[in-house]
Amino acid sequence: MTSMTVNGRPIRFRMDPDTPLLWALRDAANLTGTKYGCGEGDCGACMVHVDGEALRSCLITIAEAEGRFITTIEGLSRDRSNPVQQAMVAEQAVQCGFCTPGIIMAASALLAKNGAPSEADVKAAIPNLCRCGVYPRLVRAVERAGRVANRRETISAAPAPGISTQDAAREVPALSVPEE
Ligand code: FES
Ligand code: FES
Repeated sequence: MTSMTVNGRPIRFRMDPDTPLLWALRDAANLTGTKYGCGEGDCGACMVHVDGEALRSCLITIAEAEGRFITTIEGLSRDRSNPVQQAMVAEQAVQCGFCTPGIIMAASALLAKNGAPSEADVKAAIPNLCRCGVYPRLVRAVERAGRVANRRETISAAPAPGISTQDAAREVPALSVPEE
């Protein structure tokens, strides 16, 4: 039994302790926003926050995550109101979207430490791969998100594409793995 806090809720996984955190989140906790890309630490699609640090969940076992605080894209903001999410949409830095959750988790961890990152800072902190090639837009989005987070800019409050007002207000479903 491996215990940790995921998106603010205690959770215990009845799984092999060597299970990668990625698979525990996706298969047991049904948090499928965290994506599987390479499984080898190269692409960043599986990025989550572990105690506030952006880490690749395919490279961490649940034993290594024991007792730690995990945040996935589902826990970052329920209604996609996080400045990085808003800026990614506003700068059209979302194409197919497969890499987007990992990028957002890496970017939000960066902005928590550095509210005004340079282009070089963004490239160093977000090595995520994007097969759609959104890199220039990604840099603009993260710089813009920093300005929004620092209240030097606002982004239109228009609803994010693909999410209804009702969905935004809906409670996040309980994790499917019960605590004992
Ligand atoms: S799936 Fe984890 S880095 Fe690619
Ligand atoms: S937006 Fe398609 S992989 Fe990045």
